[in-house]
Amino acid sequence: MEESVTLTDNRTGRSIEIPIVGGGVDAGAWRKLLGGIWFNDPGMATTAVTSSAVAEIDGEAGILRYRGYPIEQLAERSTFPEVAYLLVYGELPTGAQLDEWTFEITRHTFIHENFRKRIYDAFHYDAHPMGLLVSGVAGLSTFYPEAKDIFDPDNRRAQIVRLIAKMPTLAAAAYRFSRGLPFQFPENADDYPTRFLKMMFDVGGDYEPDPPLVQAMRVLFILHADHGQNCSTTATRVVGSSHADPYTAIAAGCAALYGPLHGGANEAVIDMLTQIGSYDEVDGFIAEVKAGKHRLMGFGHRVYKNYDPRAMIIKAAAHDVFKVIGKNPLLDIALKLEEVALADDYFVSRRLYPNVDFYSGLIYQALGFPTNMFTVLFAIGRTPGWLAHWNEMVEQKSRIYRPRQIYTGAPKRDYVPMKDR
Ligand code: ACO
Repeated sequence: MEESVTLTDNRTGRSIEIPIVGGGVDAGAWRKLLGGIWFNDPGMATTAVTSSAVAEIDGEAGILRYRGYPIEQLAERSTFPEVAYLLVYGELPTGAQLDEWTFEITRHTFIHENFRKRIYDAFHYDAHPMGLLVSGVAGLSTFYPEAKDIFDPDNRRAQIVRLIAKMPTLAAAAYRFSRGLPFQFPENADDYPTRFLKMMFDVGGDYEPDPPLVQAMRVLFILHADHGQNCSTTATRVVGSSHADPYTAIAAGCAALYGPLHGGANEAVIDMLTQIGSYDEVDGFIAEVKAGKHRLMGFGHRVYKNYDPRAMIIKAAAHDVFKVIGKNPLLDIALKLEEVALADDYFVSRRLYPNVDFYSGLIYQALGFPTNMFTVLFAIGRTPGWLAHWNEMVEQKSRIYRPRQIYTGAPKRDYVPMKDR
């Protein structure tokens, strides 16, 4: 039997039956019955804004799959360019497809010299690198005006390749600018994470990252590559839905990611752990969280009501990194926080578990990244996901985003001259 819901308008007695399809009901039927009555859904928590084949998330069960492939398998066996291809094109590439894709990405890593010198150099020396990245990605659109032709699939592919290729270059350039270090050119012989680490940290040509560190970077990029209709992906889609070029749409994604409730949480976790300062202060801090004085950063998720599967993988990767580098002293505080929170009714009853950001910052710090680069790293990883959704949206010929509101302001009133106020 087909599953359905019945809506009744008690003002008129009219009813309408709406079939449940793929876990959703068509808002068109609601509109038909209840024209002018808006579905009041702050934060779009109960609204599916699109159908999408990119990532499947089961928040109750703690499951994340890209195009059907479990995140655990991809983190163990895949590379970041391969995952990017999978997200954008829906299938794992053949050997020839992967070679061509990797070749293209490798050949498009450079940014125009004018861009680096004139755009980045215009910022103040202590500018936050996310500010540079947001502006930098938007600025790229002016170098590729043909990107506006979004309905040509070949043209879309060219911009997708450029963005995936250039994000690490923009990110590393932002970091080196803030340190007063000369820009390091990308090396074609390196794989994607090694190239990025060298652009970040090589001074004088003798930096060679330890293989476990490259592995950690690879895993972190893969784990961040997509997460369905999250805040930044939605921002990308909203801007892209007006047919803006992909650079401008991805800049909107970066901007949304910057906030501490989204991609900025990993930075906030390190600040929180540093502020707690010692293992013995954990119980006191948890009491303050329960009293509403702070949020436990890196905990809780709109979708996951179970352990975030990405957090599980990152926790294991953190141990591998610490074997090479030595333990980050904040790890003990994080482990105790997790243990105390997971045994406490406040967190258990609200189903608050560690999310992707709880352990990622500890690895980033161990790899040598300053905290203000953490969200930038997230942005590099998320770029293929943003692009996959943008590409899907263009292919779907979706409508422009234009939600409604429940107006709560003043009723009509007449303008009051200044002397009478
Ligand atoms: N610490 C303490 N209490 C929390 C936390 C937290 N981290 N998260 C939620 N709660 C509590 C809320 O106070 C609320 O309690 P109440 O019912 O008594 O009022 C309840 O749990 C529900 O919280 P909401 O804010 O309604 O949950 P929402 O789904 O809107 O927020 C969010 C999700 C923003 C991730 C939230 O859990 C949070 O602020 N976490 C900390 C920031 C963080 O780690 N963000 C990264 C998310 S992952 C990512 O973006 C990549």
